[in-house]
Amino acid sequence: MIRQLTEFTKNIWGLYLVEGMHVLDATLGNGEDAAFICEKIGMNGTLEGIDIQEDAVNLSKVRLDQLKYNNYHLTLGNHKYIDKIYEGKCFDLIVYNLGYLPKANKTCTTLLDSTAESIQKALNLIAIGGILSITTYRGHDEGVKEYQWLSRFVKDLDIKKYHVMKLEYMNQGEQTPSVMLIERKLV
Ligand SMILES: C[S@@+](CC[C@H](N)C(=O)[O-])C[C@H]1O[C@@H](n2cnc3c(N)ncnc32)[C@H](O)[C@@H]1O
Repeated sequence: MIRQLTEFTKNIWGLYLVEGMHVLDATLGNGEDAAFICEKIGMNGTLEGIDIQEDAVNLSKVRLDQLKYNNYHLTLGNHKYIDKIYEGKCFDLIVYNLGYLPKANKTCTTLLDSTAESIQKALNLIAIGGILSITTYRGHDEGVKEYQWLSRFVKDLDIKKYHVMKLEYMNQGEQTPSVMLIERKLV
């Protein structure tokens, strides 16, 4: 069950997501995560997705259309502006799957500055009881920087407002992915 951290993470989302929820995928990529989420939230839920690469947005659209979902809205843009792009909205789940698309242009990776800005803004977009899920990849330089920043950032989050959890393989070295989950408490 824990062979692949990305799949394990989706299982966690799956335990939490129910029909009708509102979700933001802040790194659409090729839309795999988005498709999983659309299945869980059903036609009464909504998925917003954003990616900085036009190809990623187009690929995701094709995938979601093929699966006959129409409860989504995709945006071509930089997630560091999510406060403006999604002004007035709030989400039950916001997901970041950082880094670059496997088998695609590795130079188009998420970067620490925009990631940090976006994640801090995302905290204001999570519904009460909602979850922010961030996957980092330590196999490349920018991913290490994101991981290190995020590890410091989440430690300082107010315990009265958030539960924070980190998921990592403990016996596979320092380069394996890591997932941080931030839950906005009910009170
Ligand atoms: C690891 S991939 C995401 C995988 C995706 N969730 C999936 O299911 O296929 C990371 C994505 O982040 C995108 N990205 C990089 N910087 C970004 C930014 N500043 N704003 C939005 N998307 C960004 C990349 O274009 C890439 O598609």
